Amino acid sequence: MSNKDYVIAPSILSADFARLGEDSKKVLDAGADWIHFDVMDNHYVPNLTIGPMVCKALRDYGIEAPIDTHLMVKPVDDLIQSFSEAGSSYITFHPEASDDIDKSIRLIKENNCKAGLVLNPESPVSLIRDSLDKVDMILLMSVNPGFGGQQFIESVLEKVSEVRSMIDKDNLNIRLEIDGGINLENISRAASAGADTFVAGSAIFNQKDYSEIINKMKASLGAI
Ligand code: DX5
Ligand code: ZN
Repeated sequence: MSNKDYVIAPSILSADFARLGEDSKKVLDAGADWIHFDVMDNHYVPNLTIGPMVCKALRDYGIEAPIDTHLMVKPVDDLIQSFSEAGSSYITFHPEASDDIDKSIRLIKENNCKAGLVLNPESPVSLIRDSLDKVDMILLMSVNPGFGGQQFIESVLEKVSEVRSMIDKDNLNIRLEIDGGINLENISRAASAGADTFVAGSAIFNQKDYSEIINKMKASLGAI
């Protein structure tokens, strides 16, 4: 896979919320490809973050890059239309949080967004097997959802390889994203296992110079 197929999607969970538009623009200007937008509801996960109004505010501010909306909410369906109208590009959800997985995927697509399913570190691949031909992305969590800044769970790399084989076997056009604890040290291992889309929150936003860290991540990916 050539370097240009890789996507770096900084999670704005670790951005400066008092200057979210500015910080999002800054990370994109520094070479990031997408904005990863973590939605937590204090129900499916214990934390509470941001909703469609904030997504729309980023669009109104002038953010044009794809917004990758990661729903850690239950129920799922009620929020799909609002996030689509707010400007989301991708909407991903956790299958355990949906009453009807196919219906939620359909709803995302009917709202002109790309759809994806998310697996927690402990969730089996069997949860997504029947939906693979219907989604645009699979997101594999390499931390338990809820908070930024957690430590990468190394054993998830086996699942990355497994899902990569499933995607390649049927030649499916699906991005394989990894989210949680990604940093300069492990990004190339995630790519070697088969991931092509990399969420990184604290590893990017905790640096002073976003270009420097993003360039280093890209160089590390380019070396594979
Ligand atoms: C965790 C979120 C992640 C998280 C990533 O629930 O889904 O997107 O913010 O942050 P880091 O890269 O700091 O683990
Ligand atoms: Zn996320």
